[in-house]
Amino acid sequence: MRLHQCYNFHDFRELARRRLPRPIFDYIDGGADDETTLRRNSASFDDCDLVPNVLRGVSDIDLSVTVMGQKLALPFYCSPTALQRLFHYNGERAVAAAAAKYGTMFGVSSLGTVSLEELREAHETPQVFQLYFHKDRGLNRAMMARAKEAGVQVMMLTVDSITGGNRERDLRTGFTIPFRLTLDGMLQFAIKPAWAVRYATNERFRLPQLEKHMNMGSGTMSIGRYFTEMLDPSMNWQDVADMVKTWDGPFCLKGVMSRNDARTAADIGCAGIILSNHGGRQLDGSRTAFDQLAEIVDAVGDRIDVIMDGGIQRGTHVLKALSLGAKAVGVGRYYLYALAASGQTGVERALGLMKAELERDMRLLGCTAIRQLSRDNLRFRTSSPEYMGSAVSG
Ligand code: LAC
Repeated sequence: MRLHQCYNFHDFRELARRRLPRPIFDYIDGGADDETTLRRNSASFDDCDLVPNVLRGVSDIDLSVTVMGQKLALPFYCSPTALQRLFHYNGERAVAAAAAKYGTMFGVSSLGTVSLEELREAHETPQVFQLYFHKDRGLNRAMMARAKEAGVQVMMLTVDSITGGNRERDLRTGFTIPFRLTLDGMLQFAIKPAWAVRYATNERFRLPQLEKHMNMGSGTMSIGRYFTEMLDPSMNWQDVADMVKTWDGPFCLKGVMSRNDARTAADIGCAGIILSNHGGRQLDGSRTAFDQLAEIVDAVGDRIDVIMDGGIQRGTHVLKALSLGAKAVGVGRYYLYALAASGQTGVERALGLMKAELERDMRLLGCTAIRQLSRDNLRFRTSSPEYMGSAVSG
């Protein structure tokens, strides 16, 4: 299988599976516990049908949106994800360049492998910096200051990862940074020599957002240990309210799911919230962002931008979320598999295919601009939820 034979999420995933050592593929691919939420994330879109309108004159399609004050050419963006240079030696450089080419936003992770300054410098398109709240308050302040200084527009604090999710695939392979693999994990690396050669011959693996503040030289760190040992489980709304003030610009919370939390986020001055269950990687059995979306849009959609991520594999998934009232959606694994499959060319192909799907599906749905999407375009298969008759999204 080659890149030009990839037409969708499943194809990119398959190519990534063939190219990556199994422990790395499983790190991207896996979820927590029984992976129920991971599966449900995509499946939830199937419980909702699109109802098209016809004969509307749909020659010109405008996919642009404005979210948290940022104008994006596309209604989806590349969510911040960790450790990208493990997946392809160009990592974040490749993803940021592809996002910029398509005029959409790119998220840089606290656990990114290229510095936020380099990425901010390289492209004009809006960028978010994703922050974890560390026990080391100095580190939190330093990262916010660096992002501000570099000219990052949006600060995105992840609030659903205060302790590590139970990712049993990673426990089995011994996925840690630097690698300390189980015997089986080692074998999996040995049978993917092309990856190993590229990893060994390219720039050393680094975590430039964190390296001044943590010593990785002597030991290994699993993602679970990072969450559990370095992040601060005492983080509360007052801490976040202080950060919103300090940032003094668009600030959003990733991982808000309840109505009460959404209201509090609006009260303390957040510009947006991202409904998310962290790609099913944290609390298994938690509700999907798509299932929870209408309720949250109805509660706070007139006060802040409601965004969602999780399970997006198709243009129609994006359109269903936007029709319910999301202002934009994030994709994660969708571009990560493409990155692993073929670097920047792979990500460009993935973003281009999603854009083409969106244009085609907008036409078939009878809409020429994102603001025309509304709940009138949707019908849920099971019991008609009470919110369907209420607010019309915009
Ligand atoms: C993960 C983190 C690092 O889910 O976002 O692995």
